[in-house]
Amino acid sequence: MIAVLMALISKEGRPYAGIEIHKLPVALQQVLNELPRNIVIAHRGTTYWAPEETEAAMRWARDVGADYLEFDLQRTRDGVLIALHDVNLRRTTDIAEVFPERADAPVSAFTLDELRQLDAGSWFNETYPDRAKKEFVGQDILTLEDVIRIAEGYRIVRDEQGRRIYEWGTDGKKYTRYEKDPQDSGNRPGIYPETKEPHLFPGMEQDLREELERLGWYHIQPGKMKKIEVPQGGVGIANTIARVILQTFSAHSLVELEKAFPRRIPTCFLLWLGNEPSDLKENTPKAYAAKINYAVAHGAVIIGPSIAGSPNDYADLLAPWQGEMIYRAGLAIHPYSFDTEEQMAEYTGWKNRCPQEGRVDGMFTNKADMTIQFYQQTLMSAYFKSNAALGIPDNIQRNKALFHGYRDMSE
Ligand code: G3P
Ligand code: CA
Repeated sequence: MIAVLMALISKEGRPYAGIEIHKLPVALQQVLNELPRNIVIAHRGTTYWAPEETEAAMRWARDVGADYLEFDLQRTRDGVLIALHDVNLRRTTDIAEVFPERADAPVSAFTLDELRQLDAGSWFNETYPDRAKKEFVGQDILTLEDVIRIAEGYRIVRDEQGRRIYEWGTDGKKYTRYEKDPQDSGNRPGIYPETKEPHLFPGMEQDLREELERLGWYHIQPGKMKKIEVPQGGVGIANTIARVILQTFSAHSLVELEKAFPRRIPTCFLLWLGNEPSDLKENTPKAYAAKINYAVAHGAVIIGPSIAGSPNDYADLLAPWQGEMIYRAGLAIHPYSFDTEEQMAEYTGWKNRCPQEGRVDGMFTNKADMTIQFYQQTLMSAYFKSNAALGIPDNIQRNKALFHGYRDMSE
């Protein structure tokens, strides 16, 4: 890769004057061109309406019209990639009752069968009684395959108690059964998996590639990926070349993803202000530019900065000068995570009615319904970036049939 170094134009008031930013190489510009814009990324499915990263959260996100299902990948002791955010199971399951001696053990200490014994939904009802639903009781932990099958319009086959019904493969292993989802609203979102705590799961990037290949969601020749039927008028990202976006906070994992995916697919380098090895240690132009340059050097085409605002009150890593710096490097911006209209208005530039200030190409959102509504009703067309090269209409959000809140998924 020939890095083109670009000295930023020195302008009064710009804190990064004189700091070098590397420009995205041509090969990666092609990957970026394939990325849909104005995308609604369902953060953990939804953290607001349903227990995060469960089937209830993912089916809801698909049906409400999210463009991507976001989740965090970890690996079980028997080598299965599963969706879970925290480093242990205490907050989001009943592990303290089921395996009390191992309640703080990492995910890698458990087999998939053991994890399947956990209730990953009841905690939500107890924590948020105003949003509690009977159907959340007994929600279980999902695998990568489960999330993909939900994106394809399926649901998990369960008995009357909500337990999975398995079938046995010729390899002697048991497999979850899936069926066409009667609640399916016809949307086929992409997926946006994050390598979570990748230092605990060496080789997970290769495992991810292999599993995506097995399921037809990655192939060295994109034309050989699984063809996914998209009903008329639905979200159709699952059937595009950009059906998978990769993400990581880890500098090491970014390099491993680059090696594991020789056909480059959109990859997001996440930013967090902190003191862990991969964190942004100080929020200065020099340190921020170093992160962008690292991303460009290792195959990322998107930067994922944290944003300010309640309820999370994360560090604001997307001030106007930071957004401009990323765009000067030629990358897209997917900030995390949106909970309010105020945040969306701020980071799209709508708050100041200033399209050139917009610093968002997609939003990790905890309420996909709220974000779709914002795109449909508040954000004017001047703020949309063109999807014409993809054959995707510019205002795809406007065509969605939206429902608000949580829709009961049980039959
Ligand atoms: O992946 C974007 C965002 O999910 C990062 O934050 O902690 O929710 O994984 P976290
Ligand atoms: Ca995540």
